[in-house]
Amino acid sequence: MVNIGLIGFGYWGPNVAKNIFNNGKYNLDTICDYDETRIEKAKRVYIEQVKYESDYRVLLADESITAVAIAVETSGHYKIAKDALLAGKHIYIEKPFTSTVEEAEELKDLALELGLIIHVDHIMIFHPVVQKIKSMIDSGELGDILYIDCKRLNLGQIKKDVSAMWDLAVHDLSIIDYLSGGKEPFYISAIGEKIYNPKETLVFLSLKYEGFIAHIQSSWISPLKERKIVIAGTKKMVVFDDMKADKLMIYDKGVNVIYDENIEYSDYSVKIRNGDLIIPYIPAEDALYNSLNHFLESILENRQSVSSPDQAIRLLNTLYRADNRMNK
Ligand SMILES: NC(=O)c1ccc[n+]([C@@H]2O[C@H](COP(=O)([O-])OP(=O)(O)OC[C@H]3O[C@@H](n4cnc5c(N)ncnc54)[C@H](O)[C@@H]3O)[C@@H](O)[C@H]2O)c1
Repeated sequence: MVNIGLIGFGYWGPNVAKNIFNNGKYNLDTICDYDETRIEKAKRVYIEQVKYESDYRVLLADESITAVAIAVETSGHYKIAKDALLAGKHIYIEKPFTSTVEEAEELKDLALELGLIIHVDHIMIFHPVVQKIKSMIDSGELGDILYIDCKRLNLGQIKKDVSAMWDLAVHDLSIIDYLSGGKEPFYISAIGEKIYNPKETLVFLSLKYEGFIAHIQSSWISPLKERKIVIAGTKKMVVFDDMKADKLMIYDKGVNVIYDENIEYSDYSVKIRNGDLIIPYIPAEDALYNSLNHFLESILENRQSVSSPDQAIRLLNTLYRADNRMNK
């Protein structure tokens, strides 16, 4: 049993609380938020089953709590995470990990020094569809990846402390990082607009990795909510649409290159291959539950999380480089 406290009960915190509460190996000890209205909301759900606190330092001083989940705004992550590590707690922290690469590296080193686990909630890599795509890539079923095309669009919530790219593209970058075994782009171009906001509300990001290219659209000003990824492999192509009931479509389609003996030396022809469309069975699992459960297992088995600070630092580096390339 892991005794855990949650800091931040705003928009996302209640989902984290629910999935901790539903996991029999966690004890949700305390919910902390400095906004009284949020604590009142938590009390209506958890009544006397948990403790409530407005000052996170009081939660951190409680020695019976061994882990904390941090679900405050990104700009508040670093300070609370550092205080939590110094108080000897393992930490589950929302994405994006920190506001800068330097902060992330400092927290990583501190956790290593203190023998504590940091799990960054790169929730999408715990999604059963992403797990399925990963197994298709690892078994060779998809072939070599040619390109990955991602759209993560909706109307609002416009955040002041991060851009739409830092808030949304980080999900797609974590998927690409996971599927490619930690590849980092060697070329980045980005265009964006700071509409209604001091940070970009709309970003189109293009990336070149060894072997494939990727495009990521992130928007808080789209009339439609879209969560769609197309991945084309040399053997099959898949479409992951998180807004649909049938979330994964596997197309046995592609392009065959035919070298014909009758054609002159080094010449070839290209033929489109149209095959079956398969909608595979995907277990109905909650990605957030899986992410929190992975954190729990990392603590109990004393091993690094898959979504470790190392992965987070690779993603933050890409976001930082994309910021530097913005509109250039
Ligand atoms: N994994 C996902 O899919 C996902 C989805 C949404 C948000 N998030 C992440 O979750 C985090 C929170 O986002 P949100 O939209 O819930 O933000 P929010 O502003 O709605 O909520 C943050 C809450 O934290 C509280 N808080 C802030 N600083 C505090 C402090 N020092 N002590 C106590 N309470 C404090 C605020 O009062 C607020 O209630 C962000 O990092 C965001 O990127 C992740």
